[in-house]
Amino acid sequence: MPRGIFITLEGLDGSGKTTQIERLAAWLRRRGHEPALLRQPGGTATGDRIRQILLDARTAALAPMAEMALMFADRAQAIAEVVRPALDAGRIVLCDRFTDSTEAYQGGGRELGSELVLAMHRLVCGGLQPDLTLLLLPSLETSLARARRRNQRVEAETGASEGRFEAEKDAFFRRVWQKYREIAAREPDRVAVVEGDLTIGEVHEQIVEAVAERLLATG
Ligand code: TMP
Repeated sequence: MPRGIFITLEGLDGSGKTTQIERLAAWLRRRGHEPALLRQPGGTATGDRIRQILLDARTAALAPMAEMALMFADRAQAIAEVVRPALDAGRIVLCDRFTDSTEAYQGGGRELGSELVLAMHRLVCGGLQPDLTLLLLPSLETSLARARRRNQRVEAETGASEGRFEAEKDAFFRRVWQKYREIAAREPDRVAVVEGDLTIGEVHEQIVEAVAERLLATG
């Protein structure tokens, strides 16, 4: 059985990843694929508990190193429980965030640096790399405004605050943004960048173009 295809979506909070993953999954299903979907942090029962700690605005003064280690603990569980079995079964895996997020947020945003994050990745993830990463980069201003609106809405509807990251200052997100650009420039074969303030339909078009190319390349 050939190994499946591992596709990740990346971008700032509010970049439209969730909508695009749903659309891409529907597009793949219409072509006879049944993708395995997951998000990080989360995507497993244990990962969802780790997600609560990480995103809850009441988690105060979490050390950047602890934050990074929790991201990788979540990832190790997701790889063992979902990603590896699905790839071994020849399926397409669609993952909402992966190690690029840790490099951008903890490496860039929290200023831990790329080297440390990439070393952790090699140790914890055994070199598992996405075959294709779709990086959504609308303007920084658009992303931030959307993320803050969404967080206020979720909080008003459910009383749960997942806003620990959204509460960060703009300078933090500028560093995240910069690190994402660095990753894309470093790995142009893996990372397809969808840039600018495009409509949902326009972003979807660019995504399916990149995915179709990858599907053709792997037969
Ligand atoms: P999301 O699931 O709504 O995209 O939110 C996840 C948040 O966690 C988002 O603000 C980015 C952050 N995050 C990191 O800081 N590092 C990571 O490794 C991952 C996966 C997410």
